[in-house]
Amino acid sequence: MKRIGMLTSGGDCQALNAAMRGVAKCIFHSGEDVEMYGFLEGYRGLIYGNFRMLTPADFSGVLTKGGTFLGSSRTPFKQIREPDENGLDKVEAMKQNYYKLRLDCLVILGGNGTHKTANLLRTEGLNVVTLPKTIDNDLWGTDMTFGFQSAVNIATDAIDCIHTTAASHGRVFIVEVMGHKVGYLTLNAGIAGGADIILIPEIPYDIKKIITKIEERNKNGSKFTILAVAEGAISKADAKLSKKEYKEKMKNYKYPSVSYEIAAKIQEKTGYDVRVTVPGHTQRGGSPCPYDRVFASRLGSEAGKLILKGEYGFMVGYKNREVVKVPLEEVAGKLKMVAPDSSIVKEAKLLGISFGD
Ligand code: F6P
Repeated sequence: MKRIGMLTSGGDCQALNAAMRGVAKCIFHSGEDVEMYGFLEGYRGLIYGNFRMLTPADFSGVLTKGGTFLGSSRTPFKQIREPDENGLDKVEAMKQNYYKLRLDCLVILGGNGTHKTANLLRTEGLNVVTLPKTIDNDLWGTDMTFGFQSAVNIATDAIDCIHTTAASHGRVFIVEVMGHKVGYLTLNAGIAGGADIILIPEIPYDIKKIITKIEERNKNGSKFTILAVAEGAISKADAKLSKKEYKEKMKNYKYPSVSYEIAAKIQEKTGYDVRVTVPGHTQRGGSPCPYDRVFASRLGSEAGKLILKGEYGFMVGYKNREVVKVPLEEVAGKLKMVAPDSSIVKEAKLLGISFGD
């Protein structure tokens, strides 16, 4: 008999259900005697013993559904060692609930923060297998995370829609793309959507270069310009500040986000009409795209295989077009970022896309 616990933690994304279904299908189809428990709302469920038993019926019809049927929450890693408001030791509580249910392993689906906690639980002696989810694609140890391709589709759709209206009005449009401190989503959606300027956190921008590009386009007869701007984009000047100085500066920040700051500066310096569109959480919503359904199913089934073999302490990831197992200690606490000299950036530049650098 195998007893398996499962939880989804952090910001949701598409294909979480598809990945859990992949794990469950593999395990239920193996013929192994199994009990599966789902912890509700991420680590919170594991801390407070909020769970329910899962049966094959729970995984039926979920392949195409966005979100997570277990619910999710953010449980910041920084606070995981701090007792809760009632003095409860969260790590101890998670261990107790694991042992009470006599679990053989936990399947944890999440992004960066989630992986730090998963690795902590591993070092505390729990058996853990993880799966890489996030629209940001910023998880170390895997070339791709599920949710990413679906989000690229949505952000690209947003840029596509903006294109037609930008062309009609001859305006400058900024589409602000999610991705936290990493630019994969903006880079890919920007190229797919034919953006003229792509700004990502890994390549700090100079506002003068952005304006030069817009004016060049204007001179050449293109009356509109589309910018795909990562929510974490940063100017060259700000990138030079220390963490402390930057924090201090942001205390008096008057814009809702970086896109509005860039828009104001372009407008002020050129007099062009600038508009900002923020697709926001739509990028995390809706059905997973077919790529993500396949991808998450593949990773899920491989995670199921590891569990059946009793191989724990791994994230199931994707490297060089192969599904691979990556030791959790290699993943936790590391951010995967776009290399400014990567071939995709160079190729985008060959297409005439400006990165404002
Ligand atoms: O990590 C996924 C993500 O959507 C980021 O792209 C974004 O910065 C963040 O989560 C938003 O978090 P929340 O849903 O907590 O506002």
